[in-house]
Amino acid sequence: MDPLMQNEQRISPHSPELVVGIVGAGVMGRGIAQIAALAGARVCLLDGHLGAAEAARAILLSTLDHLVVRNRLSPADASLAGARIICCSGFDELASCHVVIEAIIEDLAAKKTLFGKLEEVVAVDTILATNTSSLAVTAIAAGLRHPERLAGFHFFNPVPLMKVVEVIPGLVTDTAITQFLLELGRHWGHAAVQAKDTPGFIVNHAGRGYGTEGMRLLAEGITTIATLDDILRDCAGFKLGPCELMDLTGLDVSHPVMESIYEQYYHEPRFRPQGLTRQMLSAGALGKKTGHGFYRYDAQGKKIASALLVDGAAERAAAQLPSSIWISSTRPELASRIALLLKDSGVEIESGERPGANALCIVTPLGDDATTCCVAEELDASRTVGVETLFELGRRRVVMTTPATSAACLATARTLFAHDGAAVSVIRDSTGLVAQRVVAHIINIACDMAQQEIADPCDIDRAVTLGLGYPHGPLAWGDLLGASTVLAILDNLLQHSGDPRYRASPWLRRRAALALSLHHKEV
Ligand SMILES: NC(=O)c1ccc[n+]([C@@H]2O[C@H](COP(=O)([O-])OP(=O)(O)OC[C@H]3O[C@@H](n4cnc5c(N)ncnc54)[C@H](O)[C@@H]3O)[C@@H](O)[C@H]2O)c1
Repeated sequence: MDPLMQNEQRISPHSPELVVGIVGAGVMGRGIAQIAALAGARVCLLDGHLGAAEAARAILLSTLDHLVVRNRLSPADASLAGARIICCSGFDELASCHVVIEAIIEDLAAKKTLFGKLEEVVAVDTILATNTSSLAVTAIAAGLRHPERLAGFHFFNPVPLMKVVEVIPGLVTDTAITQFLLELGRHWGHAAVQAKDTPGFIVNHAGRGYGTEGMRLLAEGITTIATLDDILRDCAGFKLGPCELMDLTGLDVSHPVMESIYEQYYHEPRFRPQGLTRQMLSAGALGKKTGHGFYRYDAQGKKIASALLVDGAAERAAAQLPSSIWISSTRPELASRIALLLKDSGVEIESGERPGANALCIVTPLGDDATTCCVAEELDASRTVGVETLFELGRRRVVMTTPATSAACLATARTLFAHDGAAVSVIRDSTGLVAQRVVAHIINIACDMAQQEIADPCDIDRAVTLGLGYPHGPLAWGDLLGASTVLAILDNLLQHSGDPRYRASPWLRRRAALALSLHHKEV
């Protein structure tokens, strides 16, 4: 019988009568049980491991108590939510569930077997949902008697705090099932976004740009681990640098995800990982959990400061200020940002068309490198540096050398840009410096997701800000920086590297050409 035919009578996601089965009472199953019970659903927990459901319920009750102590929940609501969670000892006890959510191990065969068994006991209109993060929903549903009643319902860890859920219809999923789960996710307090059944769905797909481009910058010798993290945190506004993030997640998790998405997209160069993380994984340098990864950690998991890190004060003491500076006027707005920054530095800013004989020459690369800017203006490369001007300049400035920049010139540039106490990071010549490159790559991936209709453009942004904590949704970020600027960065990267990794998505190219927002959808 087609479950669609039964839908007229389907229970509302808001109903206090709603009974939700959760199979797999681990980290995710427990989190889902917590938000479901708090939103008023009755929850039946089942786990294949003897005693695991009871243990999960005990943890949940203590979490609810903790919320009461912290005034996040009234004692009455905690007690009602706790009473709504029961443990089951067999599949039969899930027979009356309206929805069953699976959160067992990430294994296709195990999940298929589980849903096969569930179909034998639940009603024909019971909704089946999987919390898989990397398997195809369509593949999980294949072979069921009613594959149209199964969809992905992908939460993030920790579920109560990560306020987004991806709802993923498989190829044959009934629209009513998708709508039900979207509404259920919203009722449980999450932003519910719909995603196509494609590798990584939204969040794990959009998140591929950050780490892989960071690793590429390391592989190219442009920057060091600490400098890479500092720039992306302090200038671009990410909460953690890519190396800090991978140390926190653990390379045993991050590296296989990078490889898996790359493989599943048939070696799409935009997702190409670098050898460094594979090597670190094989050495057991997993990150915080093993005490060392990109950084070293003490027994309490605190990062051990590197003796190589130089602070702004030490840099200031390192050299004299230059006698005068000359700022390229090729990009007047960017030049005026530099001039404003240095107006109280006490250094003369030359106004001539050509630099004076001893001036430090400053160029403002936008998607290009310092060498290209230097050659285009016939500057003396030994006394030229590039400076990042597209991002926040308050806390940290990024100075980029040309291959010919002299050590003395670099030292004066560091001192100059640290004159007001801001930190200075020095990088080697790079098309698009560090932040421009990484952010443009992230925006490009999101544009291509919009092009492939993996999700609505606004949902891509919502899922990324909530699921990854980026300072902006990637498409909104592209609008903020200017689609044509992002396109120029990518086109230059493509031209300089010859790597199709940097080919611009048609979504970006067309919107840049027509001066449309990156959220703009075709009719
Ligand atoms: N942990 C995360 O960050 C995260 C995030 C999103 C999605 N997911 C996905 O959620 C699912 C669960 O992940 P988790 O981190 O909660 O795992 P977990 O190891 O913490 O919990 C899995 C639970 O399932 C039980 N289990 C395993 N096989 C079973 C079976 N055949 N029948 C019944 N119970 C079984 C285990 O005993 C365990 O209690 C996976 O598909 C995972 O990919 C995990």
